[in-house]
Amino acid sequence: MINIPRGTQDILPKDSYKWQYIENKLHELMKIYNYKEIRTPIFESTDLFSRGVGDSTDVVQKEMYTFKDKGDRSLTLRPEGTASVVRSFIENKMQGNANQPVKLYYTGPMFRYERKQKGRYRQFVQFGVEAIGSENPAIDVEIIAMLVHIYQSFGLKNLKLVINSIGDAESRADYSKALQEHFEPVIDTFCQDCQNRLYTNPMRILDCKVDRDKEAVKNAPKITEYLNDYSRSYFEEVKTLLDEIGIEYEIDSNLVRGLDYYTHTAFEVMSNAEGFGAITTLCGGGRYNGLLELLDGPKETGIGFALSIERLLLALEAEGIEIEQEDSIDLFIATMGEQADHYSVELLNKLRLAGISCDKDYLSRKLKGQMKQADRLNAAYTIVIGEDELQKEQVEVKNMKTGESEPVAFSELENYLKVES
Ligand code: HAM
Repeated sequence: MINIPRGTQDILPKDSYKWQYIENKLHELMKIYNYKEIRTPIFESTDLFSRGVGDSTDVVQKEMYTFKDKGDRSLTLRPEGTASVVRSFIENKMQGNANQPVKLYYTGPMFRYERKQKGRYRQFVQFGVEAIGSENPAIDVEIIAMLVHIYQSFGLKNLKLVINSIGDAESRADYSKALQEHFEPVIDTFCQDCQNRLYTNPMRILDCKVDRDKEAVKNAPKITEYLNDYSRSYFEEVKTLLDEIGIEYEIDSNLVRGLDYYTHTAFEVMSNAEGFGAITTLCGGGRYNGLLELLDGPKETGIGFALSIERLLLALEAEGIEIEQEDSIDLFIATMGEQADHYSVELLNKLRLAGISCDKDYLSRKLKGQMKQADRLNAAYTIVIGEDELQKEQVEVKNMKTGESEPVAFSELENYLKVES
């Protein structure tokens, strides 16, 4: 038997309706915020991620599914969506659009070769949002408010919004130097990854999964002490606007995010729900002011976030929030005899074309078995067609809820069901 690849999952009908519900709701919410959908390829040139996401990140160093195609091009299954959206923005010259900032959203599978764990998969579905073309604290706040709104609209309560500023390039350079000086004397006691990060990306030491609880991490210099005037005032404005619209947050100066492109505002939403699991991060995002230029694009800036639908579902489960399944059909057609069965094919087809959801038996079940099938399918109405009905061109339509029946002519069935159901 061939099994499903590690870290992936089949979404079976008992769960797929939840995904549809979530995706539909997200589409609706995006209308409210005036964001438009973008769809980009599942694979991209490997360079896009090594340059965009950053060579020193775990994602690029350890987690990418990279392969050569038959034309010897190095391609990578996308590990995230921001680099692709930015590539598309640049390639399609969206900076020329009259409507700026360009507000985009996407949903689709992402791929990371990670250690499988509850809430961590090798293929997972991200819903992400990017607003490109405005450097204004108000758009940062729009994105954060939208994120909180999304989770709340699914009924989640145990949420914690954590924000930080990781400043602009100048602030980050000063801060990185301070971190190097701070960690240098003790780096021997850190994991090999952190030892490598000391000179390539010292900020990543702060959220290393292995060394996160070390004293030296806890008392490391804080980015907030190294923000230059512009970065500081940008962050102040973001906080003021969040306060004004009543969004609660915590500031975590060790929140540095795992991808290289971030500048200024960074944020994550965590679940506090008991039983959510070891991974508490529901989603993450931030501003990326240098990314477009890094990818040979215009001098525009962006901000966005991504959440995984898998973790949203886990959070709903942890808070005991159920998504109801609308699992019913309008009509089940039971038949007795070959002629009736033959006619039911025609009737079924006619009713379906008229938009009525209906089904019939395909396993030559006895009448009792057919009625059981009607029950299992939650049919609102049932009809039984036999010789008599064929002759009279009329059936008894049984309302399965009340148990009452009414005679209806075949020619009137469509109208009857449309009015009644
Ligand atoms: P990220 O923090 O790498 O950011 O991922 C965002 C979210 O994707 C995570 O918070 C989590 O919900 C989900 N996620 C990541 N890896 C996995 C996994 N292995 N299994 C399940 N879920 C996962 C980004 O990807 C950025 N592109 C977000 C962004 C958009 N920043 C600006 N714009």
